Amino acid sequence: MKFSTTTTLLGAALAGSASAQNYTQSAPFTLRVVSSDPASNITDSYLYACHAGAAIEGLCVGSNSTTPTVSNTYYFNTTTCDGCTPTNLGSLVWNLPVQLPDADHYSEALSISLDNLGSNVHFPLFEGGYGSTQLGFTDDKKLFASVYGDDSKNVPGERPESVTEELQNWYVCWGTVGGYYYQALAWVTAGEPHNPTCEKVEVVRDDI
Ligand SMILES: *[C@@H]1O[C@H](CO)[C@@H](O)[C@H](O)[C@H]1NC(C)=O
Ligand SMILES: *[C@@H]1O[C@H](CO)[C@@H](O)[C@H](O)[C@H]1NC(C)=O
Ligand SMILES: *[C@@H]1O[C@H](CO)[C@@H](O)[C@H](O)[C@H]1NC(C)=O
Ligand SMILES: *[C@@H]1O[C@H](CO)[C@@H](O)[C@H](O)[C@H]1NC(C)=O
Repeated sequence: MKFSTTTTLLGAALAGSASAQNYTQSAPFTLRVVSSDPASNITDSYLYACHAGAAIEGLCVGSNSTTPTVSNTYYFNTTTCDGCTPTNLGSLVWNLPVQLPDADHYSEALSISLDNLGSNVHFPLFEGGYGSTQLGFTDDKKLFASVYGDDSKNVPGERPESVTEELQNWYVCWGTVGGYYYQALAWVTAGEPHNPTCEKVEVVRDDI
């Protein structure tokens, strides 16, 4: 396993913050990256949860072994509620192994935040209790983020019609993921990546 063992104390604190909600969890799956560059050696590599801080993980590029392990098995959580419009969006979830009397894992959702204000390249992290970014899968099982409001054609004084888009701005880049320097999955907000090590990829869900 590529992440360090979480202490019982931390695990207890995390488990205490979990609240009951109506989450429906998918069957487990792995996530494979596919590069459009035929010379790339990352095509068909699997993403694994790599230690980025205390109970924080990034999505690092690993081997192309198809064997599911604790590190590379994920779930998709969707919420249900009475009278809501059904949506295909939800959270990408990874189970952090913990050693607690009543639990052997802590469920963490992936979130993408502005971890570097000087770049358009941001590394998604699994973090307990930090909310989650709304993601989904296309019919051909490619991961997307749901984005509201394209500002690229804005004009002064005229509020544009708001549209929701499914974007797949995924790249694999070398960069600071939490407290470590890794080759990991990144999200580029718009335009060409500021980081010259980035390779454009698609992220494909392989059901186990
Ligand atoms: C995902 O759903 C499962 C099953 O309902 C739940 O136990 C878990 O806490 C959820 N994870 C997150 C991060 O919401
Ligand atoms: C791809 O090649 C680079 C340079 O040789 C190497 O550092 C990296 O580990 C390789 N990546 C994979 C996923 O094999
Ligand atoms: C991927 O798998 C093939 C066939 O099993 C192997 O030849 C190749 O070295 C592997 N590549 C990586 C990056 O692990
Ligand atoms: C969860 O499900 C129950 C039973 O269907 C419902 O009464 C409740 O409103 C739901 N809670 C949320 C947050 O959607």
